Amino acid sequence: MFAATRAHAALMAALHREAFAAEAAWDEESFATLLANPVNFAFIHETGGLVLAQAVLDQAEILTICTIPAARRQGIASLLLDYAITESKRRLSEVLFLEVAADNSPAQALYLAHGFKQTGKRTNYYPNGADALLYSLSIKDRLF
Ligand SMILES: CC(C)(COP(=O)(O)OP(=O)(O)OC[C@H]1O[C@@H](n2cnc3c(N)ncnc32)[C@H](O)[C@@H]1OP(=O)(O)O)[C@@H](O)C(=O)NCCC(=O)NCCS
Repeated sequence: MFAATRAHAALMAALHREAFAAEAAWDEESFATLLANPVNFAFIHETGGLVLAQAVLDQAEILTICTIPAARRQGIASLLLDYAITESKRRLSEVLFLEVAADNSPAQALYLAHGFKQTGKRTNYYPNGADALLYSLSIKDRLF
């Protein structure tokens, strides 16, 4: 596991392309632009996963997280999420938000296992018509 910088934008785009459906994958320029902004931070797992998050004032948000298909169910996303939570804490965030598609049960299971609670829903949010579920995790009272 290592902290990603703009220099890793191509690697992140390649991982994203492998993990997501083509229309949902982010390109190198998108990662480079996001990582040029110091409110954003990211970690890469060498076996094939990444997380990118943002912390502004006391709120943080997971912008994207993925593991390539060949490396799934080995705890990689779980570890990436732990790193994102710890970094959000370090940046003095008190709550961590994310959005997940209502038809993405693997991701929902991951977040629920980490203590996230559903706090809202955006109907018909994604291009395929799926709803977006809004999840949040209070990290205020955690040590790390
Ligand atoms: C969702 C995703 C990130 C999970 O990555 P992963 O590295 O396989 O996840 P982990 O191995 O860390 O799983 C941790 C826990 O999450 C849950 N989980 C993960 N995948 C699951 C699945 N397919 N079915 C049920 N539960 C699952 C389980 O509780 C799992 O613990 P366990 O393996 O001990 O049962 C991965 O499937 C992925 O990249 N999907 C495509 C991209 C995506 O949907 N990203 C999230 C967008 S919101």
